Amino acid sequence: MTKPGEVFADASVYDPGIEAIVPRYDELHDTVLNAPPHDRDSPIRVLELGAGTGELTTKLLTRFPESTVLAVDHSEQMLAEAERKLATFGDRAELAQGAFPDDYPGESGTYDLVVSSLAIHHLDGADKRALFAAIHDSLAPGGWFLNGDVIRFEADHLEDLSGDMIENWVRSKGWEEREFMDEWEASDDYDDPSTLTDQLVWLREAGFDAVTSIWQYYNFAVYGGRKGE
Ligand SMILES: C[S@@+](CC[C@H](N)C(=O)[O-])C[C@H]1O[C@@H](n2cnc3c(N)ncnc32)[C@H](O)[C@@H]1O
Repeated sequence: MTKPGEVFADASVYDPGIEAIVPRYDELHDTVLNAPPHDRDSPIRVLELGAGTGELTTKLLTRFPESTVLAVDHSEQMLAEAERKLATFGDRAELAQGAFPDDYPGESGTYDLVVSSLAIHHLDGADKRALFAAIHDSLAPGGWFLNGDVIRFEADHLEDLSGDMIENWVRSKGWEEREFMDEWEASDDYDDPSTLTDQLVWLREAGFDAVTSIWQYYNFAVYGGRKGE
């Protein structure tokens, strides 16, 4: 796999910036957390891939008050932000540094739920497929994988449409697009989104059933599948 670099030059600007560049960021997270079949009070074991500053992690630990989470990210500075934010949850949140798919944590059948948001699109197609296979193996029977992420359109005009939509969103948040990008420059541009269709097929090939997309807004989607009983 290509070793990921830092996605953001300065992790402390991530939280104020992400909502300005990802349209409906909270709605995307909410969908990831609404989709699992587990009761709110079940003591689920969760793996989160690419936890960043711990935004989805915080919402997950609040939504499922008996859950425990292993939150993985390769970025030291993002993990440092997450550690501060998650301290209030005590030993329900564990942080680990590692780059998936190579450093995939956990034995077979370990987790009830694997979630991710805005991270897996950094992997190329081969690494996404390897990751989906590792996720499937690591889930307990009946467990779910849910990912809210950037997807790619095959049609150029739809890619352009998504770009225009994001520019308008950034402006609606009070930023000029160029000014915003200068303030919040990615230090390593390594996005590699795949089409939604390819990823649904790869999930089926990895062994998931009930594979589906649940939510989409232009080039952002929430999708996933279940490991059969
Ligand atoms: C855009 S942030 C998303 C953070 C958080 N999930 C959210 O919704 O705000 C992407 C995160 O994924 C991490 N990441 C990207 N590729 C990774 C990989 N192959 N292994 C581990 N972490 C990765 C980056 O370090 C970054 O913290």
